Amino acid sequence: MERRTFLQYAAASGLGILSSGCFFKSASSNGTAGNTPLFIPGNSGKLGVLDMSDAPITLNTRAVTLPLIQGKPSPFLIYETQYGGKTFQNPIIRVRRGAQLKARLQNGLKEPTIIHWHGLHVPGVMDGHPRLTIAPGAYYDYEFTVANRGGTYWYHTHAHNLTAKQAYFGLASFFIVEDEDELALRAAMQLEFGVTDLPLVIQDKQFDAAGALVYGSDPMQQMMGQLGDTILVNLTPQPQLNVAPRLYRFRILNGSNSRIYRLAFLRQNKMLPYAIIGTDAGLLDRPYSAQEVFLAPAERVDILFDASGLAAGDEVSLKSLAFNAMDNEMMSGMGGMGRGGMMNGMGRSSLALGAEFEIMKLVVAGKGATALPLPSRLSTIARIDTRGAIVRQIDLSTEGMRWLINGRSFNMDEYPIESRGNTTELWDIQNAQRSMPHPMHMHGFSFQVVSRRNSPEQIRKLAQDSDGRTITDLGWKDTILVWPGETVRIAIDFTHAYKGDQTYVFHCHNLEHEDQGMMVNHRVTAA
Ligand code: C2O
Ligand code: CU
Ligand code: CU
Repeated sequence: MERRTFLQYAAASGLGILSSGCFFKSASSNGTAGNTPLFIPGNSGKLGVLDMSDAPITLNTRAVTLPLIQGKPSPFLIYETQYGGKTFQNPIIRVRRGAQLKARLQNGLKEPTIIHWHGLHVPGVMDGHPRLTIAPGAYYDYEFTVANRGGTYWYHTHAHNLTAKQAYFGLASFFIVEDEDELALRAAMQLEFGVTDLPLVIQDKQFDAAGALVYGSDPMQQMMGQLGDTILVNLTPQPQLNVAPRLYRFRILNGSNSRIYRLAFLRQNKMLPYAIIGTDAGLLDRPYSAQEVFLAPAERVDILFDASGLAAGDEVSLKSLAFNAMDNEMMSGMGGMGRGGMMNGMGRSSLALGAEFEIMKLVVAGKGATALPLPSRLSTIARIDTRGAIVRQIDLSTEGMRWLINGRSFNMDEYPIESRGNTTELWDIQNAQRSMPHPMHMHGFSFQVVSRRNSPEQIRKLAQDSDGRTITDLGWKDTILVWPGETVRIAIDFTHAYKGDQTYVFHCHNLEHEDQGMMVNHRVTAA
């Protein structure tokens, strides 16, 4: 191909050579640069921590221009609010368990939208089901009791067919619930939110040469999921965090559309141990020592990283380690494009799913504090009693360019799954052998992992028990990654106190998969 034509083709297809800016950045994003100070949420402004009182909040959805890459303006979408005399964009909402949340979503976009409170146990009408999507200029009022355990939840757009694009452009933030266990941990470990207790949202994005966010629209990207080659933490590219030689807590949210991370802290290429203390829906029973953890889109992991043994000037890399994305089987069945072809090229990011890269650099500076012993107990995980539970089979498969749940694509008017209120169920979520990993998410109810069967080697080696469960499977979850060929059994208690039948959705949190229809209505009947 003549050079000029190739470049035109590359630009038109978003191949990532001209249009993505990755050509200029990849040297450092795969390397060690890391020199933008990590953005740390304050108590106002962007990602500011907003302590909710009884006063209602209005979240105005707006399209803005925000500099993300070296001061270059990019289109972005935000939830903006005035609260307690301060202005916030995409506030980190923080509430006490049991609080009454009153929020108005005001749609200032030129397209429909709705808010979903990810992981929260709320009635169906408060859940942001896509059928509740509101028109431009309209508003939606939420009011519910925050019943969940203390934990790191989040909220994001769930606009029908527009979730992936709107979330990619910014409509998401944290929702932190505090309870007794949470406060006890913070006191015991002398953690200070915003200083040594940091929320980290990891996202991969694609930028054009002018530094503007671009969202892929080619069919392959839509089928496999959007991948970007620039990794942002708290919207900071190539972030660096200066840490004192002491203990830190990171509450990590994978806010990416489709990228899975395998998180590890490395010092001079040696993996450092850390403690996993919490999962999607709050603290584990105790800290678990780990060196790596998989984090799929929408999952959260709560980590204690101890820098107290390090000296000033030491550097540690938070990385995503290489893993097998397990697309081999599928690729061969999809027109012989080959593994590299589909995952790396065709308008996709230069950073393949499963590639290794640095996420954030930690540099030790300043004085330390005496290392405190980790608490031996963090919380209580009461196991769901599954005696008499019905077993439901959930099959994940593919047909043509679509991903299906029990052979179906989303239909707003169909209710393929109906659960009885106040009963427990076991779901066997089974991914096809020729598939890709799917992070499956249930609205309205946290669940527990009972077992993993047929797991790939990279998961099997992380198993903590004979049921194949990994550390993060031992806590409360709302999103679970199911690898090709794998069957994950989860237990759910559908007890609720809401009037009448409740409508939720169950879907893949690879947001491109979701928008394409890898989602089903899930009705939970009145008790
Ligand atoms: Cu965070 Cu229906 O999703
Ligand atoms: Cu959700
Ligand atoms: Cu999926």
